[in-house]
Amino acid sequence: MNELDWLKIKQMAIIWVKEASNQLKASLLETIHVETKSSPDDLVTEMDRKIEQYFLKKIQTNFPTHAFLGEEGISKDEHENQDTIWIIDPIDGTTNFVHQQYNFAISVAVYHKGEGKIGLIYDVMNDVLYHAVAGQGAYKNDERLELLTEVEISKAIIGLNARWLLNDDQPYQPLLVHLVDKVRGVRSYGSAALEMAYVASGRLDGYISLKLSPWDFAAALVLLNEVGGCYSTIYGEPLAMLQSSSVFVGRPQFHEAVISEFVHRR
Ligand code: IPD
Ligand code: CA
Ligand code: CA
Ligand code: CA
Repeated sequence: MNELDWLKIKQMAIIWVKEASNQLKASLLETIHVETKSSPDDLVTEMDRKIEQYFLKKIQTNFPTHAFLGEEGISKDEHENQDTIWIIDPIDGTTNFVHQQYNFAISVAVYHKGEGKIGLIYDVMNDVLYHAVAGQGAYKNDERLELLTEVEISKAIIGLNARWLLNDDQPYQPLLVHLVDKVRGVRSYGSAALEMAYVASGRLDGYISLKLSPWDFAAALVLLNEVGGCYSTIYGEPLAMLQSSSVFVGRPQFHEAVISEFVHRR
């Protein structure tokens, strides 16, 4: 498949994302059934499952040979042996969706033979689509995103969930506290995908999480590749596309400077 094919597939995926977002917006006018998963703060709604099912059906109908990986585990397909995989978070920021009806996203990525080809992150309530095809640049709606420039740590604004600072039995905790102390500001938006799209578009200089899954970061990495953004685990190791891990993304020199501190103080 060439770049033209990926561009065409992206256009199809954009139509699906917009249609899914209309379903999400309509659901906000109704009573949404909410359940908890692993803990009281890990929410899932009927809409998470419905939207994932919607994408699964579209992909099975249009691309029957492609594999599918979604947060809610709707598809039981084996995905290891298929070249092309769709990695989807139907709602990134479910807590925001339930409590705030704001700052949640749909994240869609397509990877081929391990390489990110398409990345879409849609900020539903603001109608802002971050989108990229590998080698074709990244966009925020119609605006092409520029290559990321440098920032000093003392002038950086990072995205970070404050909860990670509480884990004082973990080796990374003193470093995180140190980083929070050194940067100019810390923000928590509650949607990892959106926060990484903010890094790709220069609104944030970095984003850190101690545990994310492929559906949280797959699309963001495609965007970041197009703007020269860097990403790794917090110790600078490469991210494994089908595994959960810590994630740190950021402007190139900023990423390097922070990682060297993490590795140094490990
Ligand atoms: C969550 C959000 C949240 C992040 C969590 C994710 P979900 O995704 O991105 O901001 O801190 O680690 O699991 O469950 O709302 O799709
Ligand atoms: Ca979830
Ligand atoms: Ca998520
Ligand atoms: Ca989700």
